[in-house]
Amino acid sequence: MPNIQVHDKLFEPYLSADEIIKKVSNIASSLNEDYEGKRPLFIAILNGAFMFASDLFKQIKIDAEICFIKLASYKGTKSSGQVITAIGLDMDLFNRHIIIIEDIVDTGKTMNVFLPQLKNQQPASLKIVALLHKPESSIYPLQIDYLGFTIPNKFVVGYGLDYDGLGRNIAEIYKLID
Ligand code: IMP
Ligand code: MG
Repeated sequence: MPNIQVHDKLFEPYLSADEIIKKVSNIASSLNEDYEGKRPLFIAILNGAFMFASDLFKQIKIDAEICFIKLASYKGTKSSGQVITAIGLDMDLFNRHIIIIEDIVDTGKTMNVFLPQLKNQQPASLKIVALLHKPESSIYPLQIDYLGFTIPNKFVVGYGLDYDGLGRNIAEIYKLID
């Protein structure tokens, strides 16, 4: 696969569509096993997680629900440090088994702001599934219960992830060349 340009920056191939889909299936198998009979509620974080959430949810074969919320903390290729709730939660979480679907955990700030809000509603359990994790840039420690790939501290685009709005529609994941 050739390098690609998004806005002013060059990116090189990093994870193929095939590698991603295989990993998504593995995660789904674990979830199907762990949540059998529990009717979990998935909460996918927009915008970035929409593609991962869609592929993952198709592979969930047990009874399960999904809803979406919109949080944002990114401007360009750097975290702005501020987390805004743009679309809120309209579900009752009390006594439910909650699984958060994130595209990528970077500093951990987004989850750190969001998790206490969910815990307030006293869910029966609360777990996180993330496709990507950049442990080197972790500021807020966080346990990721189901993880796709650990990646270096490099900006990535594709498979739902954007650089200033572009790149979400790419089926692979590309890494910034610096
Ligand atoms: P955190 O709050 O710093 O953990 O950042 C999490 C959010 O920032 C993710 O849900 C993404 O939307 C975005 N993000 C973090 N790293 C990247 C990246 O490399 N590419 C695109 N978006 C990213
Ligand atoms: Mg996101």
